[in-house]
Amino acid sequence: MKPTPLLAHLAEAPSASNPVALGHYLVVARYQCYYCHSRSFSTLNQTHPGQSQNYLGGGNPMLGDKLELRVSRNLTMDPQTGLGDWSEAQFSRAIRCGMSPHGPLYEPMPKFTAMTDEEDHAIWAYLQTVPKIKNATPEDGALAQR
Ligand code: HEC
Repeated sequence: MKPTPLLAHLAEAPSASNPVALGHYLVVARYQCYYCHSRSFSTLNQTHPGQSQNYLGGGNPMLGDKLELRVSRNLTMDPQTGLGDWSEAQFSRAIRCGMSPHGPLYEPMPKFTAMTDEEDHAIWAYLQTVPKIKNATPEDGALAQR
């Protein structure tokens, strides 16, 4: 086993005056949203997170706290299967309070209660720049497509 290479360009958080850069840092480094929200843990690219299969397109199956199946959701801005039809306020409520427009969110989706306004705004700004992926996940009435 070799240690994972350190991502030198991500060692320091970019300033909030550049929300897209800060959001990228939060998604791939500080909060690691992409770990759960890409295709599978086994196809993550930790040196180049954006090259992970189905980057931020969701569909990664995992277990909830009662060992039930939970499938991560599509965080790209595709309007049908992703967050393209959400407002920033809906997004903020989902990640900080665990309540999405479709209903409550369950573990293992964390509740980022300590996240600042600056941080959730930055993540939202960054997500606008991520290539859209069409991938229906359970809240769209689909089972994970693998
Ligand atoms: C440990 C894995 C994990 C991590 C880390 C994680 N999520 Fe999630 N996320 C999930 C799962 C699983 C769901 C679906 C929960 C359910 O079925 O109730 C989810 C649901 C969501 C939803 C709801 C989307 C919808 O269409 O309903 C949003 C938004 C979201 N996550 C954003 C984020 C963001 C932003 C981050 C990083 C700041 C993040 N998640 C980190 C696993 C994770």
